[in-house]
Amino acid sequence: MSDPILLAVLGDPIGHSKSPLIHQAFANTCGLSIDYQAIHCPKADLEKTLKELYAAGALGLNLTVPLKEAAISFCESLSPQAQRAGSVNTLIRGDRGWTGDNTDGAGLVDDFRAKGINLDQARLLVIGAGGAVAGVCGALLDAGVARIAVMNRTYERAKVLCDRFNDARLMAMSNPPLDSPLDSGLPFDVLIQATSVGHSQQRPHLNPDWLRAEGTVYDLNYGPAHVPIAQWAETHGFRVTDGLGMLVRQAQLAFHQWTGKLPEIEPVYERLRKGLTST
Ligand code: ATR
Repeated sequence: MSDPILLAVLGDPIGHSKSPLIHQAFANTCGLSIDYQAIHCPKADLEKTLKELYAAGALGLNLTVPLKEAAISFCESLSPQAQRAGSVNTLIRGDRGWTGDNTDGAGLVDDFRAKGINLDQARLLVIGAGGAVAGVCGALLDAGVARIAVMNRTYERAKVLCDRFNDARLMAMSNPPLDSPLDSGLPFDVLIQATSVGHSQQRPHLNPDWLRAEGTVYDLNYGPAHVPIAQWAETHGFRVTDGLGMLVRQAQLAFHQWTGKLPEIEPVYERLRKGLTST
């Protein structure tokens, strides 16, 4: 019998990662034998760890906080998605080193489609301007949205992010949005919550008037961090979804890059969903 395929996720911290569970479930579905490790890797150890895993024959890696941007400089090539995002969540073994890709944006767009949320000509309001937003904007633009307004606690960070994409549909928006140009997109069809504030059981400042009636709130968080925004959305009658679907779909796309197989996501999605609701 051949050795299991060596895969890993690197991050700091790493204990919370659901990637080992997800990829093991994918491998089981596809009848593949994998050894998917969760490796605690501070930023200072990244270059060394990437070299060691390559030498050990690893076929692919995932990267999570805080390594997604830093890993760019240790890739021998980048996919257009990774280049545009300025960050990588997936590394694929190449002949001479790692190829960097970013499947976060495609995972998010796939999840919108699966949930029947139309992106064609949609007006999106994104709250937050960190790495998560940089990772998904390219795919959202490619999906044919009419407008992405990025609102962030630190306006300048939103401005820098939007300028980098150089697409007239993407604009930084001040808070309150009344200071913004009239063509900002108000009221929006979809609000994407992409700040990290949910982890302190809070939500960013929001005004229900920013979203049209029956609009959708898509939170990139899941689990306890999703609760404050879910409560806000439900109070105001908006449809709300957490980021679990995106998590599983970005993993599915990474798994496909490594193995050529596209496993079904429902069994592991349901398992994670049950785990979240039973705790
Ligand atoms: P990620 O890579 O997950 O996007 P990040 O780069 O640390 O993480 O970005 C976190 C985002 O949450 C930022 O948009 C941050 O706003 P600032 O750019 O102003 O820091 C936002 N954020 C964090 N805490 C917040 C809070 N208490 N209120 C509003 N926004 C907050």
